[in-house]
Amino acid sequence: MENRSQWGSRLGFLLAAMGSAIGLGNIWRFPATAYENGGGAFFLPYLFALLTAGIPLLIMEYTIGHKFRGSAPRAYSQVSKGMEWIGWWQVAVSFVISVYYPIIIAYAIMYSYFSFGTQWESADSPTLFFVQDYLNLSNAGTFGSMVPHVLWPLLAVWALVFIILGLGIKKGIEVANKIFIPALIVLFLIIVVRAVTLPGALDGLDAFFKPDWSMIKNGQVWVAAYGQIFFSLSIAFAIMITYASYLPKKSDLTNNAFITGFANSSFELLAGIGVFAALGFMANQVDKPVSEVVDGGIGLAFMVFPEIISQMPASGFFGFLFFASLVLAGLSSMISISETYVAGLQEKFNISRGAAIATGVGLATLLSLFFANQGGLNLLDTVDHFINSYGVALSGLFEVVAIAWFAKSLKDFQNHANDVSDIKIGTWWRVCLGIITPVVLGFMMLQNLRTEITGTVDEETGELLFYGKYPVDFLFNYGWLVAVGAIFVGALLTLKKWPNSSDNKSKEEEGA
Ligand code: ALA
Repeated sequence: MENRSQWGSRLGFLLAAMGSAIGLGNIWRFPATAYENGGGAFFLPYLFALLTAGIPLLIMEYTIGHKFRGSAPRAYSQVSKGMEWIGWWQVAVSFVISVYYPIIIAYAIMYSYFSFGTQWESADSPTLFFVQDYLNLSNAGTFGSMVPHVLWPLLAVWALVFIILGLGIKKGIEVANKIFIPALIVLFLIIVVRAVTLPGALDGLDAFFKPDWSMIKNGQVWVAAYGQIFFSLSIAFAIMITYASYLPKKSDLTNNAFITGFANSSFELLAGIGVFAALGFMANQVDKPVSEVVDGGIGLAFMVFPEIISQMPASGFFGFLFFASLVLAGLSSMISISETYVAGLQEKFNISRGAAIATGVGLATLLSLFFANQGGLNLLDTVDHFINSYGVALSGLFEVVAIAWFAKSLKDFQNHANDVSDIKIGTWWRVCLGIITPVVLGFMMLQNLRTEITGTVDEETGELLFYGKYPVDFLFNYGWLVAVGAIFVGALLTLKKWPNSSDNKSKEEEGA
């Protein structure tokens, strides 16, 4: 593919990769995941996963994209024919994520607006405002009618995705990230500085960093750490291979991977500090311990945060900054998630970029409407849990095992990366990917699967409970079937042959 689109500059690529990595996972997921999994003690598995899996895998994905200059399935098929399905599986996982991810951005858009006049104060509590006034939430398994205030901002997100992807790699994705990422950093720094100077902030930080070492023995804590690193760094999503495939031949890989990895984790840490300082402030205001005010995921962003914001001086302004940061972080990741299937479809079916966007993004838009109804939040929570544990993390495990053990390509990739990069990687890199990651992640994954399948017994009622206390058939239909479906779709797409590169029309709409 001689006239494959390219990034305009190294900075352009780095900002796009950071934009992909820094996302809702950093602000919406990390602080609560760390807190629930041992607080300060979570940093041990987190750092272990970052250094032995996150950054080594990022180097590997950059190398694969750069060496084979193709979408993830195309590049994997060149590593070894049998690996193509892992590429499509990861593309399918990204597709599923791109169906619910913009819903959270849509919530954040509405909450940026609700911040003016702190409109959630119209209800008895911000939680009631979120679940009743805003979402009109129905029980798990029922869907109810469309929620207009989710639908409109959702369509606005999709419109932006269409436009940015339509403008191509350099004029669309690169330019968007050059605007979004600096803006995000400025907004977020203002919030964090304000949060740590609020009364009670230190109590929050103490709760966040205080280690609960007993958690270290728990396999689920380690899977949570790997899951967080994979989700947050956008690895095993097909994203980083696709983005690296647009790098010019003379590009650094290893150093870029370290920069992306450390920038992402620094932002994550900053988000944790900001969020817990704010939680400490809230605990101080309501005179409760921090453990009683903390909540995970969506609850943290859309139930607890509005409450904190209401108690801050200049509340509307800080509310807007917080939710606008979520929107910026989410959008830059959303673009990268959708680019995976646009690139894959374009190459596999030999169609123009415009046709690939219309098909892939068009279908994702339609499916996302299922999440814009009254039952959308329960659906989102379930799909997110299963697709991350058994889509992202599991396909990441297959990826390293296939490359290190079956294709035996690590040495070759190491040489390729070292030929073009400032930092030379050594044996440690092959040990991390060939031994440590498959063994630790494989073992933890098995342990996690066992708990997932056997469930846990509720100490009070004796009832057998599964993820999120949702009904079993609901989890089966929207959790297991979606996760297994992604593997199936992956296998199905490998049945079609790749077009010959000679008659590949190379319909890139943007010159190199
Ligand atoms: N890496 C992206 C995030 O953290 C997907 O949200």
